Amino acid sequence: MELENVLLEKEGNIGILSVNRPKALNALNEATLLDIDKAIDAVAVDDEIDVLIVTGAGNKAFVAGADITFMQPLNALEGRAFGMLGQDVFRKIEELEIPVIAAVNGFALGGGCELAMCCDFRVASENAKFGQPEVGLGITPGYGGTQRLPRLIGEGMAKELIYTADIIGADEALRVGLVNHVVAADELMDYAKKIAKKIASKAQLAVRFCKKAINEGMQTDIDRGMTFEADLFGLCFATEDQKEGMTAFVEKRKPGFQKK
Ligand code: CAA
Repeated sequence: MELENVLLEKEGNIGILSVNRPKALNALNEATLLDIDKAIDAVAVDDEIDVLIVTGAGNKAFVAGADITFMQPLNALEGRAFGMLGQDVFRKIEELEIPVIAAVNGFALGGGCELAMCCDFRVASENAKFGQPEVGLGITPGYGGTQRLPRLIGEGMAKELIYTADIIGADEALRVGLVNHVVAADELMDYAKKIAKKIASKAQLAVRFCKKAINEGMQTDIDRGMTFEADLFGLCFATEDQKEGMTAFVEKRKPGFQKK
């Protein structure tokens, strides 16, 4: 697979997707979004990958946003199409069956913050910086920021961040719930991999069902969500992993789950 601006590596059952466009702090132009799209398609059909980590190459930026030079000459229809391309790629990441962890290593601004938000959860380095600076450029967030930020950190905090274009550091991001953990920059990838390996050691069908139940449930009412949960819970009893997981408990040994 030919990718110009994205690196896709595998370490055991962990996939690592790095946005790699150092000359523009990993900013997302059309070619980079299409590379991410291709990489995600490859991950989706790779049975060896149980968890994906998304990060930015280098130590200065996760992703410094959508590419401003690319967007500058766009007309209204081209702008809409460029927004929808980013939305579609990020939705594909959100809907990937396996868990996706964002390891945020520096600037995560605009489209970069939006990329981090379409992942299941985020860990950040101490030098990470988050924000939606779009109104300072005369535009709105365009890759899901107006939708995911309020869902993640609450409407009031999201509105303040988006209206002011304020950039916040890792500790503030932790305080408002945008990230789950903050660690030293040189420990970030090991930390993300440690969480990924823990997830990969569990029953993978059950993990994937959990992701589906949470994602579906967050977009619907509690009764539909409960029904969806009950269906998936029931389906677990058709899996070898349920038999093995519960038998191992009864036999006081560690379970050996199926490889998906
Ligand atoms: N688009 C295009 N190029 C970018 C970029 C971006 N979003 N961010 C950085 N770059 C480029 C710079 O132009 C510069 O290129 P040159 O060396 O060719 O001049 C290079 O990356 C290094 O950047 P700086 O010299 O600016 O580095 P710095 O350390 O002084 O500043 C920064 C870092 C604060 C992140 C600054 O680069 C910056 O403010 N970038 C723009 C951030 C931004 O506004 N992002 C939101 C974009 S809009 C969006 O994302 C819309 C959406 O929702 C889809």
